Amino acid sequence: MTALREQFNQDGFLVLENFNTHGACDALMQRGKELAAAYHYTGQASVFQTSEQAKTSNDYFLNSGDKIAYFFEKDAFDEKGELKTDLFHSLNKIGHAMHDLDPVFNKLSRSPQLQQLVMQLELEDHLLIQSMLILKHAKVGGVVDIHQDSSFLYTEPESCIGFWFALEDATTENGCLWAKPGGHQTSLRTWFKRKEGGGTEMVILDNTPYTMEGMQPLEVKKGTCIVLHGLLPHYSLPNTSGKSRQAYAIHTINRNAFYPSSNWLQREMNGVKGFF
Ligand code: FE2
Repeated sequence: MTALREQFNQDGFLVLENFNTHGACDALMQRGKELAAAYHYTGQASVFQTSEQAKTSNDYFLNSGDKIAYFFEKDAFDEKGELKTDLFHSLNKIGHAMHDLDPVFNKLSRSPQLQQLVMQLELEDHLLIQSMLILKHAKVGGVVDIHQDSSFLYTEPESCIGFWFALEDATTENGCLWAKPGGHQTSLRTWFKRKEGGGTEMVILDNTPYTMEGMQPLEVKKGTCIVLHGLLPHYSLPNTSGKSRQAYAIHTINRNAFYPSSNWLQREMNGVKGFF
């Protein structure tokens, strides 16, 4: 086993500085802006909110697995249902298949340095099932409640691993990630899935509360890559600062693991590709 994989197994996450160039980060943010500008908002909004996701899921969200789709901040609308600010600054995130559909996102999702990291971590069998551009705009970027990524990308056996790329400096002021070393050595608490008959539900697998003790802010510079184990509880606080905190995240699962048809994210599995 490589030293890096050993460290990952021990801590449940890795912080790799200077992973992407500032130019690559800027290109991705620029592309995100262009995608948002091309989005024809019809007044049918889909809001992303971790605490209420089972309630706020709609068909637009459930059908976004193989698309480039747009999700609003919960506070983006006034009492009349109109956007309070411009569309781009009302968005919480863009997802969930840019890594396959957009050349700029594809390039960063399968970069030579990422392929090398994947080999060092012995994740050659992993498939890129989901991507998200997380905007976390200044003043409006909302909280992301504590969760485990495996809840949203459930497999048997558990196999989800995320790669989180800082496109801008992430600090405690603008809502960086929080996690604790070794935190992944725990059980999966919930499974976010499609409900029979429509909609989604958060199924409780283990109601043991998360231990918040020892949580550390992962303050990182633009260009950093954070690798996250699917069982690692993590969260981020609202962005109350004047600086945005954009990040790009891709999530992977092992190609040999069982991926239930009741998982929220569904796409043509033959079309799901790896890093190479
Ligand atoms: Fe997450």
